[in-house]
Amino acid sequence: MAQTVAFIGIGIMGRRMAKNVLKAGHSLRVYNRTVAKTEELCGLGATVAASPRQAAQGADAVITMVADPPALAAVLDGPEGAFVGCRRGAFVIDMSTVDPETSRAMAARAQARGLRYLEAPVTGGVGAAEQGSLLIMAGGTMEDFQAAKPLLETMGKKVLRVGQMGSGAAMKLTTNMVASSISAAMAEALVFAAKAGLEPSLVVEILADRSPLIARWAPRVLAGEFSPFFPLRLAHKDVHLALATARGLGVPLFALAAVAQLQTAALAKGLGDLDQTATIQVLEEIVGLPVRQPKP
Ligand SMILES: NC(=O)c1ccc[n+]([C@@H]2O[C@H](COP(=O)([O-])OP(=O)(O)OC[C@H]3O[C@@H](n4cnc5c(N)ncnc54)[C@H](OP(=O)(O)O)[C@@H]3O)[C@@H](O)[C@H]2O)c1
Repeated sequence: MAQTVAFIGIGIMGRRMAKNVLKAGHSLRVYNRTVAKTEELCGLGATVAASPRQAAQGADAVITMVADPPALAAVLDGPEGAFVGCRRGAFVIDMSTVDPETSRAMAARAQARGLRYLEAPVTGGVGAAEQGSLLIMAGGTMEDFQAAKPLLETMGKKVLRVGQMGSGAAMKLTTNMVASSISAAMAEALVFAAKAGLEPSLVVEILADRSPLIARWAPRVLAGEFSPFFPLRLAHKDVHLALATARGLGVPLFALAAVAQLQTAALAKGLGDLDQTATIQVLEEIVGLPVRQPKP
């Protein structure tokens, strides 16, 4: 059934996901802090709202896809936030990557206003966002999950409920712990192999055979292509959310702490808006040997 959907956060991911909501026949309102990013969706038939509050007014569902917990608090719970605009009984579905504590706090704030809240972070990256084939990991009640599932299926091909509120965020941080660790391990391996005199393209071919993520990332790294699929600043945010959550759980994360330091060094070099794989540039500089092949 066609719904009125407010989509808040038209960034790298949100832009593509919102397009699929629109394509599925829903009526779409969009809000983005930087309004220029909404132009393409506007041309496709979406209405642009001046605030999250305005976007949420009269909507059946509000979807958020913003950077981090402070951004989520701003667009949902600020003075011009969506919570103020939502009608009672409306759905708020947060698809951003945040930590379990933030999800639970936002859900409680929403429920106190008579709203239904689901967390539904995603994995699969830009390509899957574009194709509507994301893997979506929802947390919340079964009833809310079942009610929101058809809308989520416009953006994802595998839509799973992973548990109660907070479980979706925990699952998403779990996947990104692995992704960031693989990215760092790949960077070290490529630099190590280059210094050992191995042919980079052969190293990439062999490593790609071992890991689908390396198969996706390594050819781009070798080509010196770091336009952001997943910006380093966001990967670093997720590593920190995982470390903070783990601290609360009493779980030591030795390897991830080292990954965080490599990312911090890359951020200090001003690489935050590049893809997370740009951390290799830190190691290349330390050993004085570029792995990347010069662009023709
Ligand atoms: N890229 C990926 O591969 C990927 C995959 C899975 C999950 N994610 C997660 O998806 C979320 C969005 O990521 P993205 O890649 O789309 O990043 P992005 O392009 O940087 O988009 C971030 C969005 O958040 C908004 N935002 C940031 N701070 C804000 C604030 N204080 N108030 C209001 N809005 C604010 C941005 O608005 P402006 O445009 O005004 O800056 C933008 O719309 C993140 O939580 C990320 O971790 C990303």
